[in-house]
Amino acid sequence: MNEPSSATEGVQGGVHGGAGDVIGVVGAGTMGTGIAQCLAEAGHRVVVVDPGEQALATAPARLRDGIRLARMFREQPAAVPMDAALQAVTWTRRTQDLADARFVLECAPERIPLKEKVFRELDDVCGADAVFATVTSAIPVERLAAHTGRPRQVLGMHFMNPAPLKEAVEVVRGPRTADETLDTALALLAGIGKTGIVVSDAPGFVSNRVLMLTVNEAATVVEQGTADAATVDRVFQECFGHTMGPLATGDLIGLDTIVDTLEVLLECTGDQRFVPCGLLRGMVAEGRLGRKSGGGFHRYGSPM
Ligand SMILES: NC(=O)c1ccc[n+]([C@@H]2O[C@H](COP(=O)([O-])OP(=O)(O)OC[C@H]3O[C@@H](n4cnc5c(N)ncnc54)[C@H](O)[C@@H]3O)[C@@H](O)[C@H]2O)c1
Repeated sequence: MNEPSSATEGVQGGVHGGAGDVIGVVGAGTMGTGIAQCLAEAGHRVVVVDPGEQALATAPARLRDGIRLARMFREQPAAVPMDAALQAVTWTRRTQDLADARFVLECAPERIPLKEKVFRELDDVCGADAVFATVTSAIPVERLAAHTGRPRQVLGMHFMNPAPLKEAVEVVRGPRTADETLDTALALLAGIGKTGIVVSDAPGFVSNRVLMLTVNEAATVVEQGTADAATVDRVFQECFGHTMGPLATGDLIGLDTIVDTLEVLLECTGDQRFVPCGLLRGMVAEGRLGRKSGGGFHRYGSPM
């Protein structure tokens, strides 16, 4: 693990989120590591904070694997050599190491009280001009912005998974998000080769208000014995031409994240359609989380 203190020395000024700026990432899980990769490969220095020993121990190897994989898929040569990209990312347990970050992407677990606490901490630690983006799957941006003294500098940047391989990001403008904040976020995305699609603030935004119902309903179909998981996904792939079925998509996202996101949607809307089905809850309780645990609705070679 790099020494946190060295990562935040000599922070450059200039445009928010420009190449060379230090960018903070909170959470070294699936999304945090993928987003750190996107940033490092575009020439940013990145400081990733995670209190979890296990996450920090495995994150550098996951980053290396992610960079290798992205380079296999990409047609053009990478702008930043692999070693430079790896060295551009610093891992730390301390939120205080984000003091010099001018743009922070929050990728902590999908739990409202936890994210509210993270936003309060970021507000205390970071400079007054820093912008905060949440990668939340469903929590309204305003709910998190209200825990800071800078609601105009908060927005949602809902990256898709795997972040390095997906070109578009659902950008969520909260009711108090300033034009300049939106422009800064869209410029940051353009600089890492991605397009932002701007939507308004609402639980689940556009993507997950629809997708979470689909995954929950597909799991209910399996629970009720109408078809097994492989058959459900085949229907979507072979009949509708989808690249992936809804249950393989759930495995990719992480079934724990699916259940957490459904709970958030339930809490924020009161709509009983978002109650996670028994099968999903049971699989999470058993640790069958999808790809990251090596198995969920489908089996995978090794945990990712
Ligand atoms: N997985 C997906 O497909 C996907 C896609 C888009 C958005 N999201 C959203 O991204 C966020 C992260 O999801 P993920 O799939 O990366 O989850 P994950 O479980 O893979 O990673 C979460 C990480 O946060 C760390 N963490 C826990 N408490 C923390 C704290 N207080 N401060 C900092 N880090 C903390 C954990 O140790 C873990 O490493 C969630 O809000 C999720 O809804 C997930």
